Amino acid sequence: MSQESFAPVTGDWYYPAPEIVRDANIPDYEAVAQEAQADLQAFWAKQAEQLDWFKRWDQVMDDSQAPFYKWFVGAQTNIAHNALDRHARTWRRNKLALIWEGEPGDKQTFSYWRLWREVNKFANVLKSMGVNKGYRVTIYMGRIPELVMAMLACAKIGAVHSVVYGGFSEQALADRIEDAQSRVLITADGAWLRGNIVPLKETVDEAVHRSPVVESVIVVKRTGQEVNMEQGRDYWYHDLANLPIASPICETEVMDAEDPLFILYTSGTTGKPKGILHTHGGYQVYTSTTLSWVFDIKDHDRWWCAADPGWITGHSYIVYGPLILGATGLLYEGAPNYPYPNRWWKMIEDYGVTILYTAPTAIRGLMRFGDAWPNRHDLSSLRLLGSVGEPINPEAWRWFHRVIGKERCPIMDTWWQTETGGFMITPLPSVGLKPGSATRPFPGVEVDVVDEHGESCAPGIDGNLVIKTPWPSMLRTIYGDPDRFVNQYWTAYKEQGWYLTGDSARKDEDGYLWIIGRNDDVIKVSGYRLGTAEVESGLVSHPAVAEAAVIAVPDEVRGNVIYAYCIPRTGFAPNDQLIDEIKQHIRHEVGPIAVPSKIEFTETLPKTRSGKIMRRVLKARATGQPEGDLSTLEE
Ligand code: PRX
Repeated sequence: MSQESFAPVTGDWYYPAPEIVRDANIPDYEAVAQEAQADLQAFWAKQAEQLDWFKRWDQVMDDSQAPFYKWFVGAQTNIAHNALDRHARTWRRNKLALIWEGEPGDKQTFSYWRLWREVNKFANVLKSMGVNKGYRVTIYMGRIPELVMAMLACAKIGAVHSVVYGGFSEQALADRIEDAQSRVLITADGAWLRGNIVPLKETVDEAVHRSPVVESVIVVKRTGQEVNMEQGRDYWYHDLANLPIASPICETEVMDAEDPLFILYTSGTTGKPKGILHTHGGYQVYTSTTLSWVFDIKDHDRWWCAADPGWITGHSYIVYGPLILGATGLLYEGAPNYPYPNRWWKMIEDYGVTILYTAPTAIRGLMRFGDAWPNRHDLSSLRLLGSVGEPINPEAWRWFHRVIGKERCPIMDTWWQTETGGFMITPLPSVGLKPGSATRPFPGVEVDVVDEHGESCAPGIDGNLVIKTPWPSMLRTIYGDPDRFVNQYWTAYKEQGWYLTGDSARKDEDGYLWIIGRNDDVIKVSGYRLGTAEVESGLVSHPAVAEAAVIAVPDEVRGNVIYAYCIPRTGFAPNDQLIDEIKQHIRHEVGPIAVPSKIEFTETLPKTRSGKIMRRVLKARATGQPEGDLSTLEE
């Protein structure tokens, strides 16, 4: 690909290099968008036909109990069949499914054949522990191949996985175990991060102590340090995998399309995390179609989604989407800047990565170290870049485009959520880009920016981002709490039947969408989603804190950081030592990502007369902005 052929900028527009468009194996955006608009169900049926089904659907979509939509009603399938079983029978058995690199530099590769056998083994181990169809299994691990295997093994036998990100701590893990009522938990002794061991098993011991519903813990040996193993409860995976029961052949469970595949907890407006539920049928169709079109996945590609499998990005685009497409994906255990800030760039060169999909916070973090680190590596294998998790600021966009993509690779800025299962607003590689805009909705998805009455906002006016049409990988419910599902997402625009995203956004004259951010009590720190209530309840669980309020304050690298305002309990003198102690407490209770970068003690918090904390006022004060209308402020 020659650089001269790139015709980059007209005003603020960026166009992909002509050869990228020419060689892209994707449909024409306008044509498929029209096709979907003409007949949404026929459109999705056509995509579903690319996959294997044990029994075909009777009905593509059933909206008779909306918002409890159903997709591919009457069909039988299993996502693990489409991700693995079917590839193990074709030439793809020899293709690499997964390339893995550990932070210390150890490496492993898995062909589709090998991965399939390992997953079968894992599935048999789970069965021998009494895990059956419908059982919930909590998985709490670092980024190692066994995490991917554990997820697929659950899917294969019809168990429902609930992956908890390895950066969460005791209470967060305990709450998620409790909510899912998981009797089996899969973990590792530890995980490598920045040269240190994250003591996963210690956290598990404490979480299981707090949430004793867990009967068995399967422990993968990763870091090798001494860990506590409780007899009758804890088992080494390698011991179980050596038993005759762990055969590499395992029957795949026949699932209804609407049977649950996984629960993934995410933050909302209350302290209790929401268990977002996704199912086998619609999710497999949507994740594979979106990945195939947006990132133009080809057989010779080496796809690197640098997220954590413990978040939705990893579920959809490290594990399920790429494997369904028979792609080769990369998984890396550690930090992007360990031991040096060139770690990622070196891996791109070493493995010949063709597509890199990451988050703005990672881009900004690496940008800080300057151009010399990436420039010392051959990044010419790259064809496409991607961004997800929060709005990407134009400065980071341009650096990513210029220094990493050599002004040749277009950036797919994908807007979506845990709840949506897959990309919702996103370019395809053929589309003109504007830095900072996720462009337009994926074909078949209808979105708008509306005011509180549901009137469409004119270009340039901020409003609520809503989704107007159902899509196959939409969340089916909040696990165990259907009322909350209805209230949270489907009540604000009940009459119109629209899904409320919780984001505010703006359209421009070209119909391009610009995401502004959350307009609820959710904070994005380094792209991670946290609820103010989760952090606040962590704060008040410290004996010195009577009341607490947290807000998001803009930060150059992390997007946002947390500021916390605490009212001390009588008898506690606010000082630096106490602040450190409270930070430590949050690290322990919620996780390192939730630690406020600033804790301030105060005598009062601004509240409305009905007692609601006015975070808006705190935020204005913290950022030196005008405080706005204070008429509802309590005296
Ligand atoms: O605010 C939006 C932001 O991330 C939220 C969803 O977070 P989560 O469920 O953790 O999923 C993140 C990964 C899909 C959204 O409500 N967000 C996600 N992608 C973008 C984004 N904001 C702007 N631009 C994006 N590309």
